[in-house]
Amino acid sequence: MPKKPAPDEKRTLKTLERAFSKAGAGSRTEARKWIASGKVRVNGKVIQNADHWVDLERDKITLDGKPLKAASKSYILLYKPKGYLTTYRDPEGRPTVYALLGDVGKWLHPVGRLDLDTSGLLILTNDNDFAERVTNPEHKVAKTYQIKASTVLTDEQIERLAQGVELSDGMTRPAVVKRLRDGPKHTFLEMTITEGRNRQVRRMLEAVESKVSKLVRTAIGPVRIGELPIGKWRNLSEDEVQVLHGESTKRVRRPRKESEKGD
Ligand code: URA
Repeated sequence: MPKKPAPDEKRTLKTLERAFSKAGAGSRTEARKWIASGKVRVNGKVIQNADHWVDLERDKITLDGKPLKAASKSYILLYKPKGYLTTYRDPEGRPTVYALLGDVGKWLHPVGRLDLDTSGLLILTNDNDFAERVTNPEHKVAKTYQIKASTVLTDEQIERLAQGVELSDGMTRPAVVKRLRDGPKHTFLEMTITEGRNRQVRRMLEAVESKVSKLVRTAIGPVRIGELPIGKWRNLSEDEVQVLHGESTKRVRRPRKESEKGD
């Protein structure tokens, strides 16, 4: 096997299995299968080691004799219903978001996750750089949620959420929190956060002695679900892709439409 590349070579050198996922030609698991079964050649020679280093600019990689070409980039926005997982397959056979996408979603990966019980905006793409940009907390891309709390919240509880609360994995960053309305037993909130820790919103509500009864993600940065029906998807526009790629802390917007409000 060729030796591991020096750090300055890393831009174009990738493992063979990564070359497939980077090109958007298939998942790394699928690539491993193709490689192991001898369908993949590098510069005409069959390579059965998925960790073989290849130079994406110079080496000629083929699958079943056909050159590996970078798939065109796709970006879709799905209005995920509650009860769907954001993984590809579930050992327990529960429905996944891929059931809602048909063939179009085959090679796309969710950009971050939504819990089984959370509905709302989920982006899927085969552009790994874009996904990294949107999910890496360093870039502080805003994610906006509408929340039905299990209790009526005081101003003090809302202020604590806005200031940041202590979770088991550390303090949360300040959030933009707005009371939408109070029912007899619940407060409806909108909260915009710039991190994406596991079950973060649920854990934040628990940290202020309440719980999430319903959670809907309504926006990522300036991109909103809008009028998209639940369970349906649409392509992101070029502007939406570009703005999310360059998204920064400045862009924290609130959803405005009545139809986007959780209840
Ligand atoms: N925060 C949560 O707690 N769950 C989600 O699905 C998303 C954000």
